[in-house]
Amino acid sequence: MPDQLVSRPKVVVTRKLPSAVEDRMAELFDVELNADDTALSRAALVDAVSRADVLVPTVTDAIDADVLAAAGPQLKLIANFGAGVNHIDLAAAFARDLTVTNTPGVLTEDTADLTMALLLGVPRRLSEGVRLLRAGKWDGWAPTRLMGTRVGGKKLGIVGMGRIGQAVARRAHAFGLDLHYTKRTRLPAALEASLHATYWDDLDAMLEDVDFVSVNAPLTDETHHLFGAARLARMKRTAIIVNTARGEIIDEAALAAALKDGVIAGAGLDVYEHEPDIHPDLLGLDNVLLLPHLGSATLEARIAMGEKVLINIRTFVDGHRPPDRLLPA
Ligand code: 8YV
Repeated sequence: MPDQLVSRPKVVVTRKLPSAVEDRMAELFDVELNADDTALSRAALVDAVSRADVLVPTVTDAIDADVLAAAGPQLKLIANFGAGVNHIDLAAAFARDLTVTNTPGVLTEDTADLTMALLLGVPRRLSEGVRLLRAGKWDGWAPTRLMGTRVGGKKLGIVGMGRIGQAVARRAHAFGLDLHYTKRTRLPAALEASLHATYWDDLDAMLEDVDFVSVNAPLTDETHHLFGAARLARMKRTAIIVNTARGEIIDEAALAAALKDGVIAGAGLDVYEHEPDIHPDLLGLDNVLLLPHLGSATLEARIAMGEKVLINIRTFVDGHRPPDRLLPA
């Protein structure tokens, strides 16, 4: 592999990264950075893949088959900044013999923390409380105002028990939640026991039984619109759903309708089906807590993600298998 890339490859980074990461990239590579951080247009992406040896995209770049068809023969590696790779057409990339890497592991704990923030914030009506204060409408403590729902003792169903789901489970157990989960493949018994989690092979059956739901699955063809109107209707009317994975896993219009009509009680969302657009009905609802895709947004995580990108590129350039190389399914 050493002859695959020149030792100082042309690396195009689509978004602004923490300066420590950009500085090191500039030392190691012939790097093209995005100083003003404007998301690349489709034409700019096409131009990037036609010139770059290595592309460093993020979730805001749709690297689909058409974009990849414009790639020049010099493009060898897509080193994604982020764990999720649903924005990259992996089949098309592999068909072109491209290597694709991501940044798993280093954003797990921060994303789980943010999931807990939603799991605590929705039942305790934090969003409504903040809005009340900011509107100047708080006239003091009252015994019956803004009463929420107790978190401890409730049942939490985790949909997708990978790294982040497990990190959520460890935290949720400490908050006294009774844990349940679904996953394509059941966890090994010892791990399942250490997480105090009950496995369900039937998502609908689990949804009928739990009080809170946390979506922690990757977006794939199988999980796209996993939650639509019918499935939301299986949940308890008092149920709360939180999503820190990918917006497309929930049919956002169906969710907005379910929240408006009282089919379920609340939602906490960090991700949206058509980012940065949000279904207009969600914005007006009191029973939702909305965040702007903050899951991995700590300086520590973003630097660690950048380190992984650097290591993946460098090992590839040096002729080794990059540690976070994705394999065809
Ligand atoms: C990232 C994420 O910030 O890594 C992921 O999959 O969802 C985010 O936390 C984003 O994807 C960067 O590309």
